[in-house]
Formats: sequence, structure tokens, C-alpha cells
Amino acid sequence: MEHLHLKRLLSTRIRRRGFLIGGGALTGLAISSQWQRVIAQPKFSDNPFKLGVASGDPLPDSVVLWTRLAPEPLKGNGGMPSQRVPVQWQIATDENMSKVVRSGETTAEPELGHSVHAEVGGLEPDRWYWYQFKAGNESSPVGRTRTFPAPRDRPDSLAFAFASCQHYEQGYYTAYQHMAEEDLDLVFHLGDYIYEGDPSNDRPRQHANSEPVDIEGYRIRYAQYKTDPNLKAAHAAFPFICTWDDHEVDNDYADENSQDFTDPDQFLRRRAAAYQAYYEHLPLRTPKPQGPELQLYRRFTFGDLAEFSVLDTRQYRSDQACDGQGSGGGEPAGGGQVVNVDDCQELFDPNRTLLGDRQERWLLDGLGRSRAQWNVLAQQYLVAALDEEPGSGRAFWTDDWDGYPPARSRILSFLQERQISNPVTIGGDIHSFWVSDLKPDFFDSNSPVVASEFVGTSISTNGVPYEEFSSYLPDNPHIKFFESRQRGYVRCTVDRQRWTSDLRVVDTVEQPNASIRTLRTYVVENGQPGAQRA
Ligand SMILES: [Fe+2]
Repeated sequence: MEHLHLKRLLSTRIRRRGFLIGGGALTGLAISSQWQRVIAQPKFSDNPFKLGVASGDPLPDSVVLWTRLAPEPLKGNGGMPSQRVPVQWQIATDENMSKVVRSGETTAEPELGHSVHAEVGGLEPDRWYWYQFKAGNESSPVGRTRTFPAPRDRPDSLAFAFASCQHYEQGYYTAYQHMAEEDLDLVFHLGDYIYEGDPSNDRPRQHANSEPVDIEGYRIRYAQYKTDPNLKAAHAAFPFICTWDDHEVDNDYADENSQDFTDPDQFLRRRAAAYQAYYEHLPLRTPKPQGPELQLYRRFTFGDLAEFSVLDTRQYRSDQACDGQGSGGGEPAGGGQVVNVDDCQELFDPNRTLLGDRQERWLLDGLGRSRAQWNVLAQQYLVAALDEEPGSGRAFWTDDWDGYPPARSRILSFLQERQISNPVTIGGDIHSFWVSDLKPDFFDSNSPVVASEFVGTSISTNGVPYEEFSSYLPDNPHIKFFESRQRGYVRCTVDRQRWTSDLRVVDTVEQPNASIRTLRTYVVENGQPGAQRA
């Protein structure tokens, strides 16, 4: 991070606590005198900004500012009338919102849950901004965001965190409280932003509604998650780039196929509701959802230093291999299962796809054209193969890349053949840390290392069984590190010479006041694929 930015961050950090945790501290006369025009005065039953503010999808000249008006978050309509409501936004170059450089008005529509996605253009590249919304007499908390450097810029460094898997019931989001105080440029969320299951009564927290299947149900679920003060603090501190996994809709779904073998037409209606709620609650720069479709894969370029291809591995994938065969309990498996390769030749069908043909072509085209030093695949899963049968024989989990090995090989071979500069994959899903070497053929010791992999543990979701997964490691020599007993995220700092990943962990998620520490640090040197322990 360049010196000026660091100084500015350090000087704002002390005051940031005031506006993030205080929330409404900047509301009132001091701010309202700055608004340029008088508007119609909607009345709210309570503070309409209880879900906080967020920003996302930063470009060199533009960023998306998000909020959703919801004075009663746990109601399907957020406690809002079925009317359009004008919402004003301002973006300034200082945290006191005194040097406003852009402002405007947009409309919060009941059809989109009174969410707001203001795409603000005309901004300067590579700088920090602060922003705020106003509706009626109510002002939102102030959020902080930034633009990316221009494509021809040569930034020295970049710092970001990536997170995934934040089951609300299974723990507190203390990791986000600490993340919000880090010196980062942005955050990636790699999926399982919500979990769709019914409430349980034996966990630290409890879902407020039963498993959602329609728009009101998903809105309530997202709104409950979004009321968490630590999650709000992280969103207010940095722009986010988000993509989804399965639990934003339904466990282990694959395109139109649900894990319960629901009629596909019926499932697509549910998917449409879930996709819409996802859009309504995140700072996405994407066309509005069209029924059960929402294009989420997209690319971000941080000067010539790093390019991020953000992937969607759910919407277009082939159904899980050998789906419908008996799983461990003899029941048909509509989602993932561990299969022995001898029992499932479908795994090796080259026509099966995880990304869909169009997204796969888009990915390879973009990688082939990239001029960035570091080329990052921001996606959901462990990319490395994980043979789950100790000793002879091989068995794989069918819901992640291991269920689509030809599709994975196409990408890893492309990285090798085209000598793509410093490929790195970041992922989540498996609720544990993994550091791996990626190879076109994982079980051929002569196959070269072509990329480096970091998978982050969950924010709060329970980890996979440590002893069981540790027993798989001797059969998977390309995996350098595994740890599932801790919750947290990964902090990455990237410069011209080196990529550094700090595996950040909290002591517990069962109590809300855990401290944070770095469990391990791994580095990738420029031009040398494969992470090394620092
Ligand atoms: Fe998860």
C-alpha cells in the first residue's frame, strides 16, 4: 500500500470507529444542511437504515453504493409501504462528508425490496471516498469506499481479505469486527452469505424464519444477517466484490436441479426469488435479475498489478455426477456425495461443466488477454484434488471441482500452455484453510505446479471434521496445509515481488468478544507458482 494511503487510513481509522459503530452519529442538522434539494418527505415507522450501507464492484471511475430501506427488517416487506421512495446519495472525499464531489437521487422500489444500487461515475481512480444516503428526514451511517487504479496505472501494492460461509446460527461474526479494522483496499465474499435452513434452538443464535422458498422468506433471512453490527462494519469500511455458492438458494443445487429432486420448474421459481433477494442485499454492478437468471461472473483489474476473474459455479453447472445413485445412507443423493472413481465414470465425461460453456470461454479468453502480474480466480471451492480414500483407490466429493475433473484440467492446462502470469485461486465452501499446489494432473509427480491455491476458513460455519480430513493428506501431496478447527478469513497483500496470505483466526465464535491472530503466513514469489510458508 502506498505511503499516502497508509497515512490517510491511519488518520481516519480512529474516527472511523465513531461513524461505524455510532451509526447515526452524523445524522441531524450538520448533515441535512448540506443536502442540495428538498424532497418529498416519506415517513418511516423506525430508522430505515438498519441494514447499514455497503459499496462494491469498484472500477477506476465508479463504484456501486448500496442500502436497503427496512425499518422493520424481519418483515417480508421490511416494514415499508408499497410505494416508491426517493433516496438521495452523496459521495465525498472526506469522512465528515464536507467535500461532496458527486450527489444524486434514485428511487427505492417495492418490487426490489426498497433496495438502492447507485452506480456513481465520474470518480478519480485509485482513491478513497466516503458516502451517505438520505431518505425523508433520515440519514444513513457514513460508509467508506475506494476506486481501483486505471488499467495503465502501475500500483505498487494491494491489500484485500476474502471471506465465506457465515452461518448466522453457528456463531458470531467477530471476524468481521476485526476485518473492519484492517488496512485493506477491498473484500471478496466467496459464497454462503446466508444459509437457507430452518431455525435450530441449540446454537449461539437463531434464524428468525423457517427455510425460505419465496421472496419474502429470503428477504427476511438476508435482512436478519445484514442486521449484524460486525458485518455492517466490514461493509461500511471497504468495497466488497461478492459471488455466491449454494446456500444463497438451496444446499448443493446445480442449475435447475435441487438436492431434493424438486420439479425443475418449481425449483427455478424458488431460484428466481433467491437470486432477487441476493441482488437486493448486496452492492452488485450487474443487470437486475431476470427471473431465475442473474449474471454474476465478472472481471476487475487493479492497474497492471492484479486481475480478478470472479466466477459463478452454481448457475450453469452440469448436475452432480452419478446423482440419483445411493449415497452413504442408501438414499438417492440429489447433491454432493463421495464416490469411488471406479463406480462413477460420469465424473470423467468431458462434456460436463462447472462454469457453463460461455463462462468457461469468457474465463480463458480473459486470462489469455490479461496483462496483469497476478491473475486471480475468485471462486467458491477447493480447486486441488482431494482423494478421500486413504490408501489405494480414489474417491472424490462430487459437488466441487473434484466432481468436474475434465473442466478443471481444461483450465489448469490452459494456465500451463499459455504461461499465464502468476495464477492464484482463492476459495471457500469447505469451512477450513487449505494451501495447495495446483497441477494439470494432481496424481502425476511429474506434472508441473502451474498455480497457487488459498482456501479460507469460514467466518462462522462449523468446520469439517479435522481428524477425518487430516487422514486424507498423505494421499494428496500437493496439499501443503489444512486446518478446519478455527474460524476467520484470509488477508492478502500483493506487490511486485510477492503475494502474502495471512490466515487470520478468532479464538471462538460461540462468544462475541474473541481476539484475532495470524495462524500461519504463506507467500508466493513472483514467477514461482506454489506457496511457501513464510
Ligand atoms: Fe458453507
